Amino acid sequence: MNILDILEKKKNGINLNKEEIEFFIKGYTDGTIADYQAAALIMAICINGMNEEEILNLTVAMTNSGDKIDFSDIADNIVDKHSTGGVGDKVTIILAPIISALGVPVAKMSGRGLGITGGTADKLASIPGYDLEISIEEFKKNVKEIGISLITQSLNLAPADKKIYALRDSISCTNSIPLISSSIMSKKIASGANAIVLDVTCGNGAFAKNVIEARELANLMKKIGNLAGKPTVCVLTSMEEPLGRFVGNILEIKESVEFLKGNFEEDVKEVVLEIGSRMLALAGFSNDFDYNKDKMLEVINNGKALEKFIQLVERQKGDLSYIYNLDKFEKAKYVLPIYSDKDGYVSKLDALTIGKVSVGLGAGRIKKEDSIDYTVGLELCKKVSDKVSNGEIIAKIYAKSEEDAVKFSSQVFSAFEISKDVVNYKSPIIEII
Ligand code: URA
Repeated sequence: MNILDILEKKKNGINLNKEEIEFFIKGYTDGTIADYQAAALIMAICINGMNEEEILNLTVAMTNSGDKIDFSDIADNIVDKHSTGGVGDKVTIILAPIISALGVPVAKMSGRGLGITGGTADKLASIPGYDLEISIEEFKKNVKEIGISLITQSLNLAPADKKIYALRDSISCTNSIPLISSSIMSKKIASGANAIVLDVTCGNGAFAKNVIEARELANLMKKIGNLAGKPTVCVLTSMEEPLGRFVGNILEIKESVEFLKGNFEEDVKEVVLEIGSRMLALAGFSNDFDYNKDKMLEVINNGKALEKFIQLVERQKGDLSYIYNLDKFEKAKYVLPIYSDKDGYVSKLDALTIGKVSVGLGAGRIKKEDSIDYTVGLELCKKVSDKVSNGEIIAKIYAKSEEDAVKFSSQVFSAFEISKDVVNYKSPIIEII
């Protein structure tokens, strides 16, 4: 078997068998298959797709490409969550300490930004000192002792996904159902969770552009999870507009801390409570979702969730003085307000445009080796359904220079549509699968 024959097959739309998929994953992980050959195969998969059997084989091969964590010695039931990615998605940073504060351990491995969607790992890395690359022993020790650990994909878990994930980002192959589902599920299975809740985002700021695609992705991942013996629930959420008020790494860390202090944005609150209530149910906390939501609000209101976040940051060597005093975070060099030119109600706030602007400003990567500017991003002063007056600020661009801010100003302005008619708030929760 050789990689050229495999490439030839997929290029011509012929299905790959288990051995061929294993050959590719093994070869790319150990470096005998080059980046350019892998890029060609990934592009062929992206264009020609994969059938269900190929996707299952790809997921298993990626899971087996590295270590698997076994938590059975420290906890009976670890529930994991993952998002298919969104603009302004800070749900993990808020949710993990809430769930942990309720006595349910959280052990989560998060990715770096992919395409226009931000990555939880990049956001946590913007807290000075926060160590995302701890050993497997430390990861387990933190979960055992304080009930929480959030790391990135530094452990040897699904290393094939780590390489393919970075490659996909730099060859415009992020939006492929076979590649997204195998990427997410290989990581989740390798990282030892007993059950999984998936936030399947849907809309123009997500990989799944409509509900039909989101359902297809959700059903596939649910099937893979169940076949691996890990009950999986999918929450479909809207990504037509960014989640919350801020997009950008430091900006979203600050917004997350504010949330844990009880300063909620309604859309973020709905997504956090819905996903969290399902995680708690799968962990055996209670099957009553409303009760779970009340309990989550309780640990926010009594400060226990924020305390847990502080414990997490401290344990992973982050500088707590930044969390106690959010003003201490480095600020963007230049802030440019964008004004409305009419009275009315925001009827659209295009997540795709905002995601592209945030990457353009430097909050995400264009090439996999690019470094990130943690300070830059956007503040969305008005969101869909908000009333707005002519001359009022609708957004602020946080940029590294005046030139950069001006370069993106018309794009940010055009991301907003304002109508004369009242626009009602719409819940971001679409359905549960
Ligand atoms: N999250 C992942 O881990 N992988 C993807 O492909 C998309 C989102």
